[in-house]
Amino acid sequence: MTLTHDGPELVELQDEQQRREWQSFVLSDLPEMISAMHVCHAVRAVADTPLLERLRSGPRRIADGLLAGIDPAIGTGFLRYLVQRGILETQGEEYGLTRLGEFLTTDVSLARLGVYIDAYGAVTSRIGDLLTGKAVYGKDVIRDGAALGAHCDTLFTTFHSPVVSQAMRGRGVRKILDIGCGGGQLVIDACLRDPSLTGIGLDISPEAIEVAGDLARRSGVADRVRFVVGDAFAPKTWPTECLEADGLCIMSALHEHFRNGEQAVVDLLDEIAEMFPAQKILLVGEPEIRYDGRENDDDFFLIHVLTGQGLPRDRSAWFDVFAKSTLHCRRVYTRPGAGPRICFYDLTTSGEQRKSGNPDDIQL
Ligand SMILES: C[S@@+](CC[C@H](N)C(=O)[O-])C[C@H]1O[C@@H](n2cnc3c(N)ncnc32)[C@H](O)[C@@H]1O
Repeated sequence: MTLTHDGPELVELQDEQQRREWQSFVLSDLPEMISAMHVCHAVRAVADTPLLERLRSGPRRIADGLLAGIDPAIGTGFLRYLVQRGILETQGEEYGLTRLGEFLTTDVSLARLGVYIDAYGAVTSRIGDLLTGKAVYGKDVIRDGAALGAHCDTLFTTFHSPVVSQAMRGRGVRKILDIGCGGGQLVIDACLRDPSLTGIGLDISPEAIEVAGDLARRSGVADRVRFVVGDAFAPKTWPTECLEADGLCIMSALHEHFRNGEQAVVDLLDEIAEMFPAQKILLVGEPEIRYDGRENDDDFFLIHVLTGQGLPRDRSAWFDVFAKSTLHCRRVYTRPGAGPRICFYDLTTSGEQRKSGNPDDIQL
């Protein structure tokens, strides 16, 4: 079609094949997906730079230092992009977070995003290589243990610490051991709640242990907690100090042992039961996968597949595992409306088994 107007002649060219190609792309929804991907990276960048703190304290002008320490050309363009995406709004020369911007940057939103981008980004960006064996998880590709620890800390303290608190109530635990402690939040929260409690956290990731030690210092409980690098699945190698614990927790870590087969998990539970005869509680928290697209469930599934972790399973499958061990599940705590969706199993040695067959089910 040829259009004429005051300026130079404008020639618009279209043909059927080109139109169909473009329609295929547009109808694929990829334009929205690509935008969503960039919004995720942009939100992380807002949080990783001083921008978030500045924006959280209210609308601000560039002239008042909004971009201090940030490349002015990139920064100005970036702010404009954030406005286009509805994350920021302007009033005069001031930039402020919209309601969407606030929701995207809550601590929980950033932690959930951080698990997928910071902790597992190096893994999900290599799916092809992992599929073809060009890269092997654990050797050429690893998740970021420090990022995983820090983001799990945020999610744990927001959603799951109250469950640990409720489960431990009245048990008289004096020293808590968190096996696969990540960034250490469980032990730290428990010690903050009870000034007479001491704790030890153990994790295979030195980076996570560093995050945990740092958090303990910042939380003022460093004199009562210790974090050590160790293999959760080899209890005989744990520092002897661990054996002083009378309250044990394993949160979102035990399923990783399924990569060694179900019997390995049963044996580990038995070994722990034998090594800690005086335990007052053994609380196992495990995510439940729904195998659907809700609330990142499929993303959660994917990272477990790619990292060769034993897949988390639903509670009935866990009951089967417990039934094969010397432990008995006396109570199950669930926490609807939290993520990741975790089921907490309160295990006891067989000697203390409840008379009735099924565990109590407590929704918090
Ligand atoms: C999903 S994170 C959970 C962290 C923390 N327990 C929480 O709930 O927030 C799983 C943790 O288990 C740890 N882990 C995995 N395999 C382990 C092993 N063999 N020994 C010790 N820790 C291990 C990881 O390093 C990671 O910190």
